[in-house]
Amino acid sequence: MEIRTAAVLGAGTMGSGIAQVCALAGCVTRLYDVTLARAEAGCALIAKSLQKGVEKGKVAPADRETAIARIRPCTDLAEAVEGADLVVEAAPEDLDLKRKLFRSISAPAPPHAILATNTSSLPVARIAEAATRPERVLGMHFFNPVPVMKLLELVAGEKTSPATLDAARAFGERIGKEVIVVKDAPGFASSRLGICLGMEAIRMVEQGIASAADIDKAMVFGYGHPMGPLRLTDLVGLDVRLAIGEHLARALQAPHFEPPALLRTMVAEGRLGKKSGRGFYEWKE
Ligand code: CAA
Repeated sequence: MEIRTAAVLGAGTMGSGIAQVCALAGCVTRLYDVTLARAEAGCALIAKSLQKGVEKGKVAPADRETAIARIRPCTDLAEAVEGADLVVEAAPEDLDLKRKLFRSISAPAPPHAILATNTSSLPVARIAEAATRPERVLGMHFFNPVPVMKLLELVAGEKTSPATLDAARAFGERIGKEVIVVKDAPGFASSRLGICLGMEAIRMVEQGIASAADIDKAMVFGYGHPMGPLRLTDLVGLDVRLAIGEHLARALQAPHFEPPALLRTMVAEGRLGKKSGRGFYEWKE
C-alpha cells in the first residue's frame, strides 16, 4: 500500500516536523490542532525549517514550495483523517488524551489506514485499545528535529499486525530514516536510555558536581555526543522530559528515572528550555 495522504494530529514541534517529512516525501498532508492559530503556527515552523533546509543545501527551493503547498492546517479531526493512508498522532504525553484521539479517529479514518502514535514512552497497547482496529495501530517514534534526525523507532504493540509494521517500515525507509523495531516496553529503546542519562545529568547540576555547560562538555568531547544531555533537555523541553521521567520511574520501578527536584522546580517556574527562552541555558531567537 502506498501512502499518499497523511494526517498529523498535533502541530507542535514534533507534529510539524513529522508533517514536513511527509509532505517532502510527496504526501498530501493535513496538520490538525485544536485551534487554527496552533495549526497555522505549525505551518509557520515548517516554512522556517524548509527555508533552513534550502540554506543548508538539503532541500531544493522548488521542493520547499511543493511541500508547503501539500500541507493544509486543519481543526476538524474527522476531516483531517478522512481518506488518510497514515495518521500520526503527536499530541502531548497524556494517555487519556491520546486514547480519546484514537477513539475519535477510528470511524472517520479509512479501514486500511495506519494509525501511529509518536509517544516517547507510553504503552502503545493501551493507546491501541481505544481504537476499533488495534491491529492497525503502532508506535512511530520520531526524534527532534524530525527533518534532521535519522532514527525512526517503530514500536509493535501487542496487537499490531505484521502488515502494519511492514507498511510503517516501508514508509520510514521512503522518508530516509534508519528504522528500528522495539517491543512495547516502557521507554522503548531510545527514551529508556536517553532519560536515564538526562535525569542523572540534572541530578549532577543539583548536587553542584559541575556547571551545566561542563557536564554537557563531558559527553560532547568525551563521548562524541552531538550535544550534551542538558542542552538536549532544553531542546526537547523540560516539561516533556519531566513527564517521561515520571512515567518511567513508575513503570520500571527504578529510582534512576525519578525526576530530580531541580527539574520540577524549573518546570514550575516556566523554565521549559528553548521554547520558553530559558532552561539550563538562555535561548535567544
Ligand atoms: N532540513 C534539512 N536538513 C537540515 C535542516 C533542515 N531544516 N537543518 C539542518 N539540516 C542538516 C544540516 O544540513 C546538517 O547536515 P550535514 O550534517 O549533512 O551537514 C545537519 O542537518 C545538522 O544541522 P546543523 O549544522 O544546522 O546543526 P548542528 O550540526 O548544530 O546539529 C543537531 C544540530 C542536529 C540538533 C545536533 O546538535 C544533534 O543531533 N543534537 C542531538 C539531537 C537529539 O538527540 N535529538 C533527539 C531528542 S530526543 C527526542 O526527540 C525524542 C523524544 O521522544 C522527546
